[in-house]
Amino acid sequence: METDRQSFKPDLERIEIELLLEGIFRHYGFDFRAYAYASIRRRLWKRIEEEGLSNVSALQERVLHEPEMMEKLLLDLSINVTAMFRDPSFYVTFREHVVPLLRTYPFIRIWHAGCSTGEEVYSMAILLQEEGLYDRCRIYATDINEAVLQRAKDGIFPVSSMQENTSNYIAAGGTGTFSEYYTARYDYALFRPSLREHVVFAQHNLVTDASFNHFNVIFCRNVLIYFNNTLQDRVQRLFLQSMEMFGILGLGKKETVRYSAVSDSYEEIDAEERLYRRVG
Ligand SMILES: C[S@@+](CC[C@H](N)C(=O)[O-])C[C@H]1O[C@@H](n2cnc3c(N)ncnc32)[C@H](O)[C@@H]1O
Repeated sequence: METDRQSFKPDLERIEIELLLEGIFRHYGFDFRAYAYASIRRRLWKRIEEEGLSNVSALQERVLHEPEMMEKLLLDLSINVTAMFRDPSFYVTFREHVVPLLRTYPFIRIWHAGCSTGEEVYSMAILLQEEGLYDRCRIYATDINEAVLQRAKDGIFPVSSMQENTSNYIAAGGTGTFSEYYTARYDYALFRPSLREHVVFAQHNLVTDASFNHFNVIFCRNVLIYFNNTLQDRVQRLFLQSMEMFGILGLGKKETVRYSAVSDSYEEIDAEERLYRRVG
């Protein structure tokens, strides 16, 4: 009897989670139904425990009736961790193998999909300025979450993260002095507004929104890992539709186009750094 109950509970919990995600989609339009289950489950329980609730159905009651609870949950579910020059070797490879290609373009359109609070966008803007390419770039930086986008637009980051950012910048092959890109004020570092001069920050949902332009470079780093395989394929098709021929795709360390529905359309520039070029 005991064994039966134990094996029954995960199934029941799965039903509750599916109902909650369906409710969120139908009521608020955020579609988390095809996100990786284990990760979603962990995030939901974090919120359940912080609110002192006892199960997923109790959370559903709150989320559907209180938009403020949905906002909190959106922050939990969207996992916004990021850093400047995250995985510095990615930037070194980008400088060595992609920058020479970009030099041959008169105009460069770049999309940062899932940019979070913008550290990745400012890092790339610094790299492009140092390589003398920034003035010919138009950069679109998007995320599902308005709150993180606002922080990206402000370009203000905790001063406490500047030590790590500086060592990442050096390891990423930075050619200047990192502290020249920001002004420190109390606990905050305010980044040079010129770094976002060619950047448009906008809300865009990779699950439900369509392609909105054609790009020479698309970055989508550390986002696909939160999606199940079907959704990863769907988003990969969206990128392919949005990518110019010979355009560059940059993914996160644990993500790949290999084994995906679009793998034949790309060649590897550097498999380890997850940099690909559209060839078909
Ligand atoms: C872990 S962060 C990655 C940030 C940055 N790209 C990096 O690698 O450091 C993942 C971001 O993906 C965003 N995200 C999650 N689901 C999304 C969706 N459906 N559409 C657009 N962005 C999404 C989250 O809001 C979050 O800011």
